[in-house]
Amino acid sequence: MRKPIAPRTIRGRLLCPRVDTRTVDHLADGLVEIDEQGVIAAVGPAPAGCAVPETVPGTVWLPGFVDTHVHYPQLRVAGRSSGELLTWLERTVFAEESRFADKNYATDVAADLCRRFIASGTTTASIYGSSHPIATAVLFAALDRTGLRAQVGMTLMDRDAPPDLCLEADAALVACEALIARWHGHDDDRLRFCVTPRFALSCTPRLLEGAGRLADRHDLPIQTHLSENPGEIAAVAARFPEAAHYLDVYARHGLCTERSLFGHCIHLSEPEWGALHAAGAAVAHCPDSNFFLGSGVMPLRDTLTRGVRVGLGSDVGAGRTFSMRHIAASAYDASLLRGARVGPEELLWLATAGGANALGLGDRIGHLAPGYDADLVAVQVQVSDPADTAELLDALLFSHATEPVRNVLVRGRRAV
Ligand code: GUN
Ligand code: ZN
Repeated sequence: MRKPIAPRTIRGRLLCPRVDTRTVDHLADGLVEIDEQGVIAAVGPAPAGCAVPETVPGTVWLPGFVDTHVHYPQLRVAGRSSGELLTWLERTVFAEESRFADKNYATDVAADLCRRFIASGTTTASIYGSSHPIATAVLFAALDRTGLRAQVGMTLMDRDAPPDLCLEADAALVACEALIARWHGHDDDRLRFCVTPRFALSCTPRLLEGAGRLADRHDLPIQTHLSENPGEIAAVAARFPEAAHYLDVYARHGLCTERSLFGHCIHLSEPEWGALHAAGAAVAHCPDSNFFLGSGVMPLRDTLTRGVRVGLGSDVGAGRTFSMRHIAASAYDASLLRGARVGPEELLWLATAGGANALGLGDRIGHLAPGYDADLVAVQVQVSDPADTAELLDALLFSHATEPVRNVLVRGRRAV
């Protein structure tokens, strides 16, 4: 059951990602009617002589951004240039993540994370929680209070990390069950629990297998890292010699499904792409992180051409920003480096509708259309020609002085 809101009408410039193509419609002066359930009842051009005033002057309204890959316990170490993936985990990440044993520290960071999402216009996120059950519970509570939408997992590790970050498989799965009972499906499915084995190297086969069973039993989303860095890939091959390839490690443990979301996917082989596509799994493309850790350049155009669902991820703290507009700009640069340009219209679609699809929420959010939840943001923009859609999209994604987000609604209710 949802708590009803006062129905309202928003008037302003609208960017509406299409359902059927990766394109975006532009309405220079539109109305969005939101009903008492926070669902969009109607969208269309404002009629001549419309009495509704512009809701937030100088802004453009669009679906809230979807961050498909972000690490809560790395917020305070974002942007630390301590090396490539495995070195960076050892030198920077594990020590910081250990601090989340302290509930007060975790509570502060959880509040900070929600503030950063709202400031960036991110209304939905797929979050790697802490390895500590209490810190993960604290994050769920903060998301609940602010009204944001998210899927959150306890980051599962039982090997190759400091002992205080490792939780043995049976204990970890019991802790997950408790979080599932408390939070999965909360507030008419605004919050979900996501099974989150960190990556193959930090999990024993027993933990991977338990994670797969847990996801299957409760029909849960799954997220993990896949094929990010050459050193990581070599270590996975050495650790799991029986697996045909990296993705096969997850597949053998029931973790490659249509509910799976794989972060990075930079260096996948042809058989891996085939298996990922056949499973109906999705990709979280994290270009800023990929640049910052020197991981490589993901073939975004090829991935889209194959028909694989893709969203964009900040991957903070390997990523340096929470702004999905900056991430879209990085994705643009990455696509040029691959020699296969993905333009701003398609990138805006990926940052909203594409992310929603990747999370299995494409029938509920990511569009300004009747029947979708009113998860909307109003972003300040300055353009010289109000009729020029290309200029508007460039300003939104590529302007260096990124203009602020003025309003953030989830189901029509302001996120605070
Ligand atoms: N692989 C395993 N853990 C991590 C992480 O925290 N960040 C990134 N980018 N890759 C990982
Ligand atoms: Zn990550």
